[in-house]
Amino acid sequence: MNLLPDYLKCTDAFVKTSVKSQLVQFSVLANMQITSPLITQSKLPEVKTTIFQTMSTIANEAKAINLGQGFPDFACDDGLIASVTQAMHEGHNQYPPMSGTQQLRAAIAGKVRTLYDATYDINNEITVTAGATQALLTVILATVNTGDEVIVIEPAYDSYIPSIQLAGGVPVLVSMQFENGRFSIDWEKLRSKISKKTKLIIINSPHNPTGVCLQPSDLTNLAEIVRDTNIMILSDEVYEHMVFDGAKHMSIASDPELAQRSFIVSSFGKTYHVTGWKVGYVLAPAQLMSEFRKVHQFNVFTVNTPMQIGIAQFMQANDHHLQLPQFYQEKRDYFRSGLKNTGFKLLDVDGSYFQCVDYSALSNQTELEFATWLTREIGVAAIPISAFYKDRTENRLIRFCFAKQQSTLDAALDRLARIAQ
Ligand SMILES: Cc1ncc(COP(=O)(O)O)c(C=O)c1O
Repeated sequence: MNLLPDYLKCTDAFVKTSVKSQLVQFSVLANMQITSPLITQSKLPEVKTTIFQTMSTIANEAKAINLGQGFPDFACDDGLIASVTQAMHEGHNQYPPMSGTQQLRAAIAGKVRTLYDATYDINNEITVTAGATQALLTVILATVNTGDEVIVIEPAYDSYIPSIQLAGGVPVLVSMQFENGRFSIDWEKLRSKISKKTKLIIINSPHNPTGVCLQPSDLTNLAEIVRDTNIMILSDEVYEHMVFDGAKHMSIASDPELAQRSFIVSSFGKTYHVTGWKVGYVLAPAQLMSEFRKVHQFNVFTVNTPMQIGIAQFMQANDHHLQLPQFYQEKRDYFRSGLKNTGFKLLDVDGSYFQCVDYSALSNQTELEFATWLTREIGVAAIPISAFYKDRTENRLIRFCFAKQQSTLDAALDRLARIAQ
């Protein structure tokens, strides 16, 4: 801590009292707050460095295999790189239209029509965004006013709550039930949290971090709850093409009643193994989209042109997204069969590229302690599920990402098998 410059002050008492040196580094990273007399009130006083960044930093220091942060360690298709490069050489390097290039919006509309039998107007109902995160924030800023309540189902992706707070809204948390090793949404509990102030419900399927997917009955329950209300839905479907065992992705787009009050968000970063490109999109009925675009045009205005042209060409030429279920199912199955040699208990994975495991047979540590120990001592980074809860709920669960080359999974499995049981 002495190494920190004066303007970086560690404010968390935990760091001062913890005797566990392996956690000190984490706490310094996670809890340091930059104080400045110029900013008298932080907009997000509770926000710390994200767990993903923190675990990746520890993983780098410990030279651990990083199964923590959710990104592939393999290359994207050469054809995609070629399409983007060609777009640059052809001079597609200036501002595209605010809503995204016509070619990409047309490609998205075609895909959504084929997969979900849903029609979204190219001009008024599809907008290309700088990744899903910008789309999520923009939906929330465009729809949530001061004091409005937003239902967040926990465990939840970490951008939802700060985005609601930035909009002046109030996150209303509903935790998933966790029974017999499986997470599911308790719709009665969710219904009990609805009030006159409820403006938005955020759902996410396939779900990060649990790997569960919405079932048809979930959509029925959701529709019953919002019917005859003005509640909107923000459906985070970034893992839409990673649904396994022959199941169908339950897109909100495929349910006309829900779709008319919903914003649907997806991410090309996830679908094409290019998380660093940060290109995604939003679908919504025209009246909702028009409000979305008012905010979008003043936070990014638009998204880089050559990526959009390149992705659109690539989408026309091949069906990469249709191969993804098989591609990731094989990785899931390979990883799971390797984990059978360890003391972890495996949770089901219906979709996404995450495997949650119960480590209670191996340790009594908290999830953060165990994930940090695993990273430093065993050399495999994971994410504690408690990080996806505002109150850091503990279930003795950690999350691994299996979007990795076979050699990476082999090396990780080899190390995990060495944990004494
Ligand atoms: C559930 C969920 N939503 C949104 C995102 C963000 O996607 P993008 O990288 O396109 O911003 C992620 C990325 O991990 C995610 O897991």
